This record gives sequence, structure tokens and C-alpha cells, in this order.
Amino acid sequence: MPVVSLKEIVDRAFSERYGVAAINVVNDLTMEAVLAAAVEQRSPVIIQTSVKTVRSVGLDLLFAMWRELTAGIEVPVSLHLDHCPDRAVISSCLRKGWNSVLFDASALPVEENQRQTVEVVAEARSYGAHVEGEIESITGVEDDVGTDEEQARQSLPVALEFIRATGIDVFAPAIGNAHGVYHSEPKLDAQRVSDIVAAVPIPIALHGGTGMTDAQFSDLIARGCAKVNISTALKVRYMKANLDFLRGAEERDSWDPPSLFTSVRAAVLDMAASHMKRFGSVGKAW
Ligand code: 13P
Repeated sequence: MPVVSLKEIVDRAFSERYGVAAINVVNDLTMEAVLAAAVEQRSPVIIQTSVKTVRSVGLDLLFAMWRELTAGIEVPVSLHLDHCPDRAVISSCLRKGWNSVLFDASALPVEENQRQTVEVVAEARSYGAHVEGEIESITGVEDDVGTDEEQARQSLPVALEFIRATGIDVFAPAIGNAHGVYHSEPKLDAQRVSDIVAAVPIPIALHGGTGMTDAQFSDLIARGCAKVNISTALKVRYMKANLDFLRGAEERDSWDPPSLFTSVRAAVLDMAASHMKRFGSVGKAW
């Protein structure tokens, strides 16, 4: 059974305290390369799509790629819609077959966010799908969603009430993490993860993974961050691998697209595999 639910992947990682890479892909090449890394490393993986990717590739084509590329795959994989404030896109992805969604209503007052997240959880359940929730926006704009202004964090009781009342499967708290490139080592409030997990044993999603140190990853994963989001690292690796190859092609005056794809695929696969190694999920496939 190749494609499994998000809950199956993160609950096991949470109880055994390893992290599963949740990597944002942008097209067929990157989706294939990340899945190939998971197969090579015998690791579970979560493939994420931003709303921008859903729109740029097209929902039907993106899902057809997913179905084709995971047919017969021998490691547990799951398809997740990342930060989505748009209920219509959430409904379309759930209806199509995405395994889980992050309903990002962090721009709304927390009471309204909670009310709507309850509805999204009920909708997801009707498809056997799962939901990640958040109550503060993670700093930084990711594929046109979010803000560069750091939002005030909600209190622990508000966070716990949100988790309990909504029945979400994964929680994404702001802990000083940010999407994009960190210009200095991030100062992370790891204790917040421990406080939440001690009160409600829920797998935590660690956003803004690109640029965190090995020590930060191990500490946060040990505290309960079972889903570790990586997006910028893939974008940078993908574009730089294209650039490097194309510079060489220009020098050689040799123009062979399949060679470009092979070279870029290898770079993306290497990036994904190295994160799986750092998060301790290698060999954890079942
Ligand atoms: P980075 O872009 O910093 O890797 O963050 C990814 C993320 O959190 C996606 O939701």
C-alpha cells in the first residue's frame, strides 16, 4: 500500500521521535526526484504542494503525476496541501484525493479560525483525510501566502483549546521559525513545542526548515516535531542546478534537454536524501 494517510506517517514518527521530511515540490521532475530519494533511503516522505503549485501545474495534472509516480512505490508516502487560506482550493484538493491539508486561517481572529477549522476537519474526515492547523502565521511569505511581519504568539491555553476543540491531527506553532532564507541562525522557542506536547500529545509540524542547524533539528524532533517542512532548499537547489548546467552547456555549445533533466534530478534527489538523513527517517519505511 504505497500511499498512506498523513496521520499514519506522522503518528509513528512522533511516537518513535524521528522527523519526516515534508518537501514542497514544484513540478514533475522535483516530485519524482523526492520520491526517488525516499525509495533509495527506505524513508517515509510527505510530498507538499503549495496553492501556487496547484494553480501553476493544474490540479488534475498534478494529481495525475502523483498517482502515476507513486503507483507501486514501496515506501510510505502522502500528499499534503501546504498553507491554504482558500476553502475552495481545500475542497477541490480533498475531493481529488490529497491526503491532508494545512488550513491556514492564521490571518483570522483565533475564534473564527477555530470555527472554520472545525468545518475543515469534518470535511477532511469525510474523505478519510487529515488536517494540520495553525493559529499564528509563520513569518515569511511562502509562494505568495503569509507575511514578513512576525505575529504575536497566542498563549498556551489558547493553543491547547484550539487543538482540542478542532480535532486537528498536526499542529504548526510559531516558534521563531520563518519561511525562506535565514540571515542569521534562528532563535527558536523549543520549550513551546515541549509545553504543547506535554499537555496534548499531538505531532508538531516544524515550518521554515531550510537553514536550521543539525542541533536544532535533533532537539526539536526529540521534543515532538514529527513533520519537518522544507521548501526553500528545494527551490534553491533546483534553480542553481539548472543554472550550473546551463552555464556549462553554453560553454560547450551543447544543448541536450534530457542531460539537463538528469543533472537537476540528481541534485534535487541529493538534497532530499540529505534531509532524510538529518531527520533520522532513513530505514524507517514499513
Ligand atoms: P522553508 O521554505 O524555510 O524551507 O519552509 C518551508 C515550509 O515551512 C513550508 O510550509
